[in-house]
Parts: sequence; C-alpha cells; structure tokens
Amino acid sequence: MRCLIIVGSRRDGNSLKLSKKIKEELKKERIICNIIVPGNQKIYTCTGCMDCDESGVCDFYDDMISNIEKVNKSDTLIFITPTRWNLLSGDIKIFMDRLNPLYVPKKLEGKKAIAIAIGSTAKEDFSTKGAITSIDSFCENAKMQLIGKYEFNNCLDFNDIESHLDEVNKMINEIKNKFKN
Ligand SMILES: Cc1cc2nc3c(=O)[nH]c(=O)nc-3n(C[C@H](O)[C@H](O)[C@H](O)COP(=O)(O)O)c2cc1C
Repeated sequence: MRCLIIVGSRRDGNSLKLSKKIKEELKKERIICNIIVPGNQKIYTCTGCMDCDESGVCDFYDDMISNIEKVNKSDTLIFITPTRWNLLSGDIKIFMDRLNPLYVPKKLEGKKAIAIAIGSTAKEDFSTKGAITSIDSFCENAKMQLIGKYEFNNCLDFNDIESHLDEVNKMINEIKNKFKN
C-alpha cells in the first residue's frame, strides 16, 4: 500500500505537521507515505492548452513530472489543505489542474482519496467544510473514491494542530482501519 500526501501549505505549520504524523503512524502498518508540498516545488500553472488530452503528457518540464510518477504509483492520495477563503489552497488547485494528463487515460479512476482541511475558524462556521467540498468535487470528477473527510478547526498558528491530539489520533486510527478493509 502506497500513499501520496499532498500538503497545501508552504509553511512548516499545521498541515505539514499533520502530514508527518500520518506518515509516521502509517509506517507502523507498513504503509509507505510520500509527502510533497507542491507550493515549495517548481510547478507551472496549467495554461489549458489541452495538448495533454491527446498526448497524455504536459509540455512543461517541471516537478509535476516526478509528482505524476508518484501519483501513478500510489493507491491513495491524501490531500491536506489549509482552508483559504472557505476553499482548498491555491497550491493544491494548481497541482490538481496539472493532473489533467491522467484524466483521459483514466489513470486516476478507482484510486482512493482522503480529504483533510484545517482552518482557523470554528466548526459552526462551515469554512473547513467548503475546503472539503472542493476536494470532494475534484475526486468525483476524476472518479476517485473519497474514503475519508476530516476537518480540524480553531487552528490559526503554526502549532495549533498539536492541541487536537485526540482528534488526530482518532482520524489516524480510522484511516488505518479503512486500509485494512
Ligand atoms: C489567505 C488565507 C485565507 C484563509 N482563509 C481561511 C478561511 O476561510 N477559513 C478558515 O477557517 N481559516 C482560514 N485561514 C487560516 C488558515 O486556514 C489556518 O491558519 C491554517 O491553520 C493554516 O494552515 P497551515 O498552518 O498548514 O499553513 C486563511 C489563511 C490565509 C493565509
């Protein structure tokens, strides 16, 4: 079992910290996780030329070449996004757009996905829900199977996720169980 964790924040904050914890815990179950932070890579934005619909590859030479290899090798994609204006982060959106070469050959179909949104607002504000919905829409379009949705609220500063340890452990146990089934 291989997972690719896509982190939507460039800072060493809540999203990256959570990704490292998930990687560490899943390793104990012999599940290999690769973490990427697209915002800290060289990734050009999609121009919408649509050449990849025919060729199956993008003309840009950048870090999406190795990212796409990692996506192809992974059974599950775990998106961890900071909530931005009730949506997913721009870095994850740019990453998703650049997965278009995999759309026509249906290389995303059937892969599993997990959506995790972190936000500074309270759960009642439904802000993180908006971020989850945008990842959900992507998965539906790509015919991926979204097997888990998790929201962490009241996280503003870099380390606020650390005060959600119980929720984090509960989520990780659920993810482990989902992979067993
Ligand atoms: C431009 C911007 C927009 C944001 N919009 C929201 C929002 O709509 N809802 C929310 O709950 N938090 C929002 N936040 C706060 C971040 O989601 C929050 O600080 C999160 O923990 C950051 O994750 P990170 O530590 O992984 O970067 C926003 C932050 C920024 C920088």
